Amino acid sequence: MGNGTLRQKIPNQETPMSWNRKHLIDIESLTADEITTVLDTARAFKAVGERAIKKVPALRGKTVVNLFIEPSTRTRISFELSEQRLSADIINFTAEASSLKKGETLKDTARNLEALNADFIVIRHSASGAPAFLSRVLNASVINAGDGAHEHPTQALLDAFTIREHKGTIAGQKVTILGDILYSRVARSDIWALTKLGASVTLCGPTTLVPKEFEKMGCRITHNVEEAIRDADVINLLRIQHERQRKSMFPGLGEYTSLFGLNQARLKLTKPDAMIMHPGPINRGVEIDSEIADSKRSVILEQVTNGLAVRMAVLFLVNGGKGPQEITG
Ligand code: CP
Repeated sequence: MGNGTLRQKIPNQETPMSWNRKHLIDIESLTADEITTVLDTARAFKAVGERAIKKVPALRGKTVVNLFIEPSTRTRISFELSEQRLSADIINFTAEASSLKKGETLKDTARNLEALNADFIVIRHSASGAPAFLSRVLNASVINAGDGAHEHPTQALLDAFTIREHKGTIAGQKVTILGDILYSRVARSDIWALTKLGASVTLCGPTTLVPKEFEKMGCRITHNVEEAIRDADVINLLRIQHERQRKSMFPGLGEYTSLFGLNQARLKLTKPDAMIMHPGPINRGVEIDSEIADSKRSVILEQVTNGLAVRMAVLFLVNGGKGPQEITG
């Protein structure tokens, strides 16, 4: 499907990686091999990003619409830069200035964008299931940039990529996800990705925000933060998703910080090489002490940087690319 000069096979590669999906809706339905294909393709794109000429022609002639109906800084800008690096034509849809405000439905909006020859729709929406719905009614490829509390697949892929870069492998790593699990799409996508790749995942937070049902996803649950962080190789902090909570799930932010916030005293309990992650946006002084967020233990900004290569990889693959063996420069 027109990946231009990138389509050069590496000779003698015994088992070329393969990707055959038109959409990226979730991590739940991906196999471990498919996730690994994205991570390996992202590694090849990261190398491309370190060259003097960072642009490749993979999406030349293709049109991508960034349909963000919910606020975003990192994901939106990272997708846009990825699309520029892949030489796509880009339309940034602004919900506030659109006919959604006049009552037009999401389906009609998306079909009008398709009528203008959009090949890819990158969608963020407050409703879980919006990307899956569009993938059923459009011919364009749909990429989920976060839907309600359901999934945020590219965040999980960049988190897995960052862990693998630091630790060499994901299998066997002890990963603690600490915070508002119930309302977090990042938590769900991370759990799917990390458990499929062989990590042991522990969830921790207030009982109201970490229900027992999550054990069915293969996670261990504890409400004791010291126990959760002591043996962890990776500590992934999540903010409280106030925008999705219909009622107060704990007495107050001060109490949350004192019971679950990562502060200097708690950091001393952790392994010296435990990585501190956060998908952002961070609430300094709430779930994470400000100095820890800026410390050498934190990989928060590295996660953002890696998002670029991961999103290039996703766009490349849903455009018909098969895997990293095709990115030889
Ligand atoms: N991590 C993340 O999704 O951040 P944004 O909401 O800023 O895109």
